[in-house]
Amino acid sequence: MITAIKAIEFLNELRSKNLSGALLRKAAMQGLFELPGYDWCGVYRLEKDTLVLDEYVGEETDHTHIKVGVGVCGTAVAEDENQVIADVTKIENYLSCSLSTRSEIVVLIRDGSIVLGQIDIDGHAVGAFDYSDEKFLQDLADFLSDNWA
Ligand code: SME
Repeated sequence: MITAIKAIEFLNELRSKNLSGALLRKAAMQGLFELPGYDWCGVYRLEKDTLVLDEYVGEETDHTHIKVGVGVCGTAVAEDENQVIADVTKIENYLSCSLSTRSEIVVLIRDGSIVLGQIDIDGHAVGAFDYSDEKFLQDLADFLSDNWA
């Protein structure tokens, strides 16, 4: 859950840095990691049928390459839909990154109808993310898409 004001402040501050490409994605993930409940924050790039881990902040993960259709991340691409998972222990198609993770949100980064990648956030609490986070992360994803290279 994030307030609308906090979301606007976050995006304004990120815009003011005048970054693009990997440097922008890195600054974005560093900023997200400071938000309460955002316990692992990363971007995956879509390369053909595989999601490749890009910039991230948090514990190291084994899941640096994820096939489309696999896990929460791959499901988002396969179904062309953001994923908000309140309790990761309740789903079968889940790739565990850390035993502390209880909830997850994945928001697609699109350029028109093309999927460039996704923002993936893990939380240590059940039900950490709701529509306010999805809306905020969608605005961020659009900004990352506009400044992708
Ligand atoms: N949990 C994700 C894998 C990525 S890690 O959480 C960083 C999934 O199920 O696709």
